[in-house]
Amino acid sequence: MLGDDICIRHTKPEDAAQLEALQYIVFPNLAEDEILHAEHYLKHLEIFPEGQLVACIGDRIIGGTTTMRYNYDIEHPHHHTFSETVAGGWLTTHVPDGEWLYGIDVSVHPDFRGRGIARAFYNLRQQIAQRLGCKGQLTVGMLNGYERYAHQYTIQQYYQAVKEHRIFDPTVSVQEKVGFFIIGLMENYLSDPTCGNAGAIIVMPLNR
Ligand SMILES: CC(C)(COP(=O)(O)OP(=O)(O)OC[C@H]1O[C@@H](n2cnc3c(N)ncnc32)[C@H](O)[C@@H]1OP(=O)(O)O)[C@@H](O)C(=O)NCCC(=O)NCCS
Repeated sequence: MLGDDICIRHTKPEDAAQLEALQYIVFPNLAEDEILHAEHYLKHLEIFPEGQLVACIGDRIIGGTTTMRYNYDIEHPHHHTFSETVAGGWLTTHVPDGEWLYGIDVSVHPDFRGRGIARAFYNLRQQIAQRLGCKGQLTVGMLNGYERYAHQYTIQQYYQAVKEHRIFDPTVSVQEKVGFFIIGLMENYLSDPTCGNAGAIIVMPLNR
C-alpha cells in the first residue's frame, strides 16, 4: 500500500482495458502504433507476468508499468527503437534469462502524480531484478521536457543540459532522482514530438 488508498500489485487480465485507456492519457502525442493496447497487456501476462505492475485505488487503475528481460551491453550502448525492443508491443523479444530488467514504460495518471507511485514502481522493479538475478534495471527515459525548449535547443543540447543538471526534465530527472544514472542519448527511439523522438539511456545497477 502507498498511503491509505493506493495499492501497487501485479497486473491481472481484467486490468488490460484500463491500462490501454491510461496510455492515451499519459502519452497523448505518442504515435498510435507505439501505444500499448489491451491485447498487448494480455500477451505480457502470458510472457512475463512477474514484470507487470499496476497502481490502483479499488477497481480504478491509476498507474502501470511494463518490463521484460533483455541483454544489453551498457559499456557499448547500441541504437534500438522502442518498437523493435517491444516487438511492436507484443514483448516477444523478452529474453527469459536476460541480464537486465528492461523498463518499457511507467504511466501515472496526471491526477495522481507526485504521490510516490513511480518511485514505488521503480523500487519494486529493482526488487524483481534482484530476485531474478538480473544486473539491475535499464530503460530509455523519454526526454519529455524537450518540447518547451525545442525552439532554443537541439535534442543533443537539451540532453546535455539535463545530464549536467542545468534543466530538470519531468521524466529523466525524476528517474535520476529515484536512482537511475544516465549513460547515453538514444535519438529516434520513438515517435513523439514531446520528447523530440528521443530518450536517455539510463541504468540502475544492483550492488553499486
Ligand atoms: C514521470 C512520472 C512517471 C513520475 O511519476 P510520479 O508518480 O508522479 O513520481 P513520484 O511521485 O514517484 O516522484 C518521484 C520523485 O520525483 C519527484 N518528481 C516527480 N515529478 C516531478 C516533477 N514534474 N518535477 C519535479 N520533481 C518531480 C517527486 O517529488 C519525487 O521526489 P521525492 O521522492 O524525492 O520527493 C509521471 O510524471 C508520468 O507518468 N509522466 C508521463 C509518462 C512518463 O514520462 N513515463 C516515464 C517514461 S516511459
